[in-house]
Amino acid sequence: MSSFNTIEWKDNRVVMIDQTKLPREETYVECRTYEDVADAIRRMVIRGAPAIGVAAGMGIALGAVNVPADDRAGFVSEVKRISGVILGTRPTAVNLSWAVKRMLRVLEEGEGGVDELKAILVKEARDILDEDIETCRNIGKAGAGLIRDNSAVLTHCNAGALATGGYGTALGVIRAAVEGGKNIKVIATETRPFLQGARLTAWELDRDGIPVTLITDNMAGYIMSKGMVSAVVVGADRIAANGDAANKIGTYTLSVLAKTHNIPFYVAAPLSTIDFDCPGGDSIPIEERDSREVTHINGTSIAPEVNVYNPAFDITPNENISAIITEKGVVEKPLAVNLSKLRG
Ligand code: MRU
Repeated sequence: MSSFNTIEWKDNRVVMIDQTKLPREETYVECRTYEDVADAIRRMVIRGAPAIGVAAGMGIALGAVNVPADDRAGFVSEVKRISGVILGTRPTAVNLSWAVKRMLRVLEEGEGGVDELKAILVKEARDILDEDIETCRNIGKAGAGLIRDNSAVLTHCNAGALATGGYGTALGVIRAAVEGGKNIKVIATETRPFLQGARLTAWELDRDGIPVTLITDNMAGYIMSKGMVSAVVVGADRIAANGDAANKIGTYTLSVLAKTHNIPFYVAAPLSTIDFDCPGGDSIPIEERDSREVTHINGTSIAPEVNVYNPAFDITPNENISAIITEKGVVEKPLAVNLSKLRG
């Protein structure tokens, strides 16, 4: 396990490590209302698909705990409204809507009055967190065998403990390989513009004593061409039914480079990231974020006032993915056929 808590439920508050401040400061944000949680998701105080799912569940639970209504119908309608606000925070990671649906299901099916429903919602949110940590461990176990001893694994963005309830998906695979005694070096891309690789992946691996080398995004092709990368492992924000995967902007570029250099390219993600209602990558909504993420670093302007385009994610087509690592095992090609066998 990692030596910090990404998110936890504490005395009817949601406490999360502030990922906008890492690695300079390790501080924690205490959310007292569902609006605080919604704001934290939008500002990326908490980010990463599974972690956003956990935050969504806890945001709804927090909102529910604070609803003053004492009649069931009034309570249910207010919690549904709160869920709509949480749902609207970020569009790409499907784990968010997955968690909202899960919370709404227990809201509809839960028995008893308002107090019982509040307790049921808090338990469900905490279960989402606990299950996510277990899921990541199982992703790690499933994928560790794909990683060779004495190898260098490139990862993009942050798909680690910070992006999940704990342990991580892509970094979970790496952690499990290291725990199994393998000598693994990680190459982390800095991941412009939000710098999740430089600020977060480098921080959490270094803190856990896993050797990490940081590169800028535009160095990946060169080091692949020099035979310095044995495998690429990334996370995902949404995987379509045909295996196309949305992940942090730049992932597609890495997949093309990996294919050119015959390097295996793995996507590690929980089943909650698979959107079977989405036929292919073209149907996945891509979030566009504020231009200041591109034009400024730590509040300092690095560019003139010109037009900026800032898509936060891209789509890696299924043909560029060697396999998808889930908590139920490694999904091999053909991805569409083999993913459909996992549909619950
Ligand atoms: O914008 P972010 O930081 O939320 O994007 C995160 C990613 O793209 C991660 O790679 C993805 O969510 C997988 S996290 C296990």
